[in-house]
Amino acid sequence: MARLEIIVAPDPRLKVKAKPVAKVDARIAGLMADMLETMYAAPGIGLAAPQVGEAVRVIVVDVAKEGERSPIRMANPEVVWASPERVPYEEGCLSLPEQFADVTRPKEVKVRYLDEHNKMQELHATELLAVCIQHEMDHLEGVLFVDHLSTLRRGMIIKKLQKYKKAKAAERDEQKSA
Ligand code: NI
Repeated sequence: MARLEIIVAPDPRLKVKAKPVAKVDARIAGLMADMLETMYAAPGIGLAAPQVGEAVRVIVVDVAKEGERSPIRMANPEVVWASPERVPYEEGCLSLPEQFADVTRPKEVKVRYLDEHNKMQELHATELLAVCIQHEMDHLEGVLFVDHLSTLRRGMIIKKLQKYKKAKAAERDEQKSA
């Protein structure tokens, strides 16, 4: 397993539509394992393959409480049912560090996907798990949570991230020359 670099927005690699996987083979299962390791280290509760520079339809999530683990690995996830009831939830994203905003989504979803053994599974997700899966699936369409906000609000957050990236790059340059 390896820890991967998480891409920070704005970045064109976060805006592409990811391709389905033909099957979950050893390479994809390995990617899932690396993504989980990367997500736990961050720490975060979800990660999508485009966030680590792989434009394939793979996501990992784990919303278990601290000290417990219950990882879910999904390839080619598809929402087959969504509740008419929608609820707001304050979301964050490993690709948008330190940024949070309320996003309104269906409260519950039923998702069909291939698991790490290439087996078709169906999951009825509620509460935080439903939020997290929908957020990660958005990444596969090149959609970030800020894309659900007003243009003004999104612009403010992107500006902050540009500053954040500049500061991080300056930090790295300093370390190199030190
Ligand atoms: Ni995200």
